[in-house]
Amino acid sequence: MRTLIRGGQIVTATDRYAGDILIEDGVIRTIGQSLDATADHHIDAKGRLILPGGVDVHTHLDMPFGGSNSSDDFETGTVAAAFGGTTSIVDFAIQYRGESLTEALDHWHRRAEGKAVIDYGFHMIMSDVNPQSLADMDRMVNEGVTSFKLFMAYPGVFMLDDASIFRAMLRTGENGGLIAMHAENGGVIDVLVQRALAQGHTAPRYHALTRPSLAEGEATHRAIALAQMAHVPVYIVHLTAKEALDAVRQARDLGVAAYAETCPQYLFLSYDNYEEPGFEGAKYVMSPPLRPKDHQDELWKGLGSGDLQVVSTDHCPFCMKEQKELGRDDFSKIPNGAPGIETRMTLVYDGGVRAGRIDLNRFVEITSTGPAKLFGLFPRKGTIAPGSDADLVIWNPDASAVLSQKTLHMNVDYNPYEGRRVQGVPEIVLSRGEVIVQDGALHARPGRGRFLRRGPSGPRIM
Ligand code: URP
Ligand code: ZN
Ligand code: ZN
Repeated sequence: MRTLIRGGQIVTATDRYAGDILIEDGVIRTIGQSLDATADHHIDAKGRLILPGGVDVHTHLDMPFGGSNSSDDFETGTVAAAFGGTTSIVDFAIQYRGESLTEALDHWHRRAEGKAVIDYGFHMIMSDVNPQSLADMDRMVNEGVTSFKLFMAYPGVFMLDDASIFRAMLRTGENGGLIAMHAENGGVIDVLVQRALAQGHTAPRYHALTRPSLAEGEATHRAIALAQMAHVPVYIVHLTAKEALDAVRQARDLGVAAYAETCPQYLFLSYDNYEEPGFEGAKYVMSPPLRPKDHQDELWKGLGSGDLQVVSTDHCPFCMKEQKELGRDDFSKIPNGAPGIETRMTLVYDGGVRAGRIDLNRFVEITSTGPAKLFGLFPRKGTIAPGSDADLVIWNPDASAVLSQKTLHMNVDYNPYEGRRVQGVPEIVLSRGEVIVQDGALHARPGRGRFLRRGPSGPRIM
């Protein structure tokens, strides 16, 4: 099966040029100008950009939480990702206490199989660091699960003490994996939460008021220091705060292998959203929380300067009805997380490229190439080059859309960006050479997505 895409502007993390792309059996075969080739299928990309498919390395599909699950499973979540121009995800498998990493991975394979419409990999969340799970980390790396998320927050559930974190880091330093860290000081937060509840403060905004940005800054600094002592690279997930960015920047200036992502919600939403009337603030309950607006400019600067390398989503949707509602009388019972898998690319293009904060190459770098490199998927994913998977997005930079829960595909009853107009949208999406989205319709069957066996993490300093 051969597909020829003609007439578009090919954009990678480093280049922009007019070119045709010949795809054969799901892989990019040739790139050239006025290619002399025959094909079974033709796509006219005149006036459009051709981007590498988005790579979202932070999703929680079908994630169990307090008796229910995040509302997108691997089918609805990957369909939404595809509509948004994302063609690979890396989701988080969870090892619960008392469980082995192998059992946890099996569970997540079963969740995804037969459902995913795009390719997917897994990180492993470790909540039980013991001699067996440390040994199993090597096995995970051999099976293509080459990154491990550890938590410095959520006491009693996921939180690890520094000794356990350090043990896991030492092991990762030997097996070529990457530590992904949820950096918030869980002990401090727990005290603040109990105090707020004892004072009768139950509204959603207290979720943010009990998770200060300094608790994120302190934990980020500690995570990096622990990683330095263990001689292992560390990747800070969902970074939100100036204090945390300062810790990453200072480490990187000293040549330490510290990396970090932020997410669209921290670039476009703010603490003010928690002040929306009634229980509406629950829509934005996530950890770390949204910050006051002045943090946004710092995050954009970090993305421009390279101190932040990735924009992922932390897609973890819960419906207001029956899920977020669980915390109506107690903010600490509101399921943590928000939807975003479908809106990442268009939000970052509109608010980043169109607003003049980053250029087009940097947009590709932070939404596709960078995450693919850091998480062992490059050059199979994350770029447009002969031999790479033909995961491509035909992007219309002139078309606009109004984001709304009614028209988006995520399985959740609200959208945090409801009514926001964005310019620059994906028009045609290809995964391994197959058109999976065109003319606003899905052309992919559940289960076509393949498990991505990832390699070790890429270059140590980006
Ligand atoms: O609130 C969030 N971020 N929910 C998902 C779990 C996590 O910590 O990433
Ligand atoms: Zn987290
Ligand atoms: Zn997360």
